[in-house]
Amino acid sequence: MGERKDLLSADNLVVRFRQAQGFRRAVIYPVNQVSLTIARNEVLGIVGESGSGKTTLGRALAGMVPIAQGSLWLKGRNVTELNRKRLREYWAEVQMIFQDVYNSLNPVYTVEQQLLFPIQHHALPNVEPDQELERLLHLTGLTPAAAVRTRLPHELSGGQRQRVAIVRALASGPELLVADEPVSMLDVSLGADILQLLLDLRAEFGLSIVYITHDLPSAVYLCDRILVMYGGRIVESVSADNLVKHSQHPYTQRLLAAARFEGPEESSARSSDSVTSSVLLESHRGCPYAERCPIVSEICTQTRPELVQINSDHTVACHAVSTSLEERNG
Ligand SMILES: Nc1ncnc2c1ncn2[C@@H]1O[C@H](COP(=O)(O)OP(=O)(O)OP(=O)(O)O)[C@@H](O)[C@H]1O
Ligand SMILES: [Mg+2]
Repeated sequence: MGERKDLLSADNLVVRFRQAQGFRRAVIYPVNQVSLTIARNEVLGIVGESGSGKTTLGRALAGMVPIAQGSLWLKGRNVTELNRKRLREYWAEVQMIFQDVYNSLNPVYTVEQQLLFPIQHHALPNVEPDQELERLLHLTGLTPAAAVRTRLPHELSGGQRQRVAIVRALASGPELLVADEPVSMLDVSLGADILQLLLDLRAEFGLSIVYITHDLPSAVYLCDRILVMYGGRIVESVSADNLVKHSQHPYTQRLLAAARFEGPEESSARSSDSVTSSVLLESHRGCPYAERCPIVSEICTQTRPELVQINSDHTVACHAVSTSLEERNG
């Protein structure tokens, strides 16, 4: 596939699941022809509403769900062709952090018991595991370390639990963290601290981060670049700065409007939003957003729009945008 400078890249990734739909079983495509790249030290956001396929894409990038089609590359190695042993090495290099920390920690193990095993397993020969644990606890703000080490998960605050999960993810010396809604169960100020911690860790370890969220403002704060997902597809890809000023896709603009006018009406409109699974079916034709789009036209229900480059850091999949671009270019 030629030389690849990116840390990770995905080419036309497809993930499919079998799902019960009424009395029948259907095949859905929560990740459908998704291509992306993640540069070293980059924070890439994936935003979209419930059911748009964010978690499934994150799990696919972390090697946790089978990829039906397409390919995934880490530092030039094709991940989809790795054997079991090499896949284990991949899991050490790409770690995932989840929303529901309580379920991802072992409730009967102390912090020290949860963390020493992965640190010992991955430690370099000249690293003393106990000192490494101490170092990571300090780096992630889990202090006083001596007291935190002996606590059980239920004796920690939600923010501290997420920090323990972050230390566990760091134990294998990863190059990429995939953080799936890491702060959505925390209150706002604790969540902001965790996002700042992720930025500090990026600087400290030279990490790349995929930040998955339905909360556009936090993605704009944290990320260099943002992918907007709808119906299993990327509909817009743009730098965080330009997303606020120059977003073009009607769905991105809806997300922005909802974030700006957080009144009770808008909140209730948002909470009822979720991608209907019919747009995830193979038989679905046209633009996934067509049935909700305020500027829908006939072509949108017939033909799926391809991602079109607007400028070097901006692509959009929308017939209306492509048409106005063609008109402008004569
Ligand atoms: N293991 C699975 N088996 C079958 N269907 C699945 C599975 N995991 C996810 N799905 C379906 O895939 C679609 C996308 O789900 P996904 O969890 O990726 O969305 P999401 O964007 O992360 O949503 P949320 O914001 O609610 O977390 C949904 O219709 C979901 O029901
Ligand atoms: Mg999710």
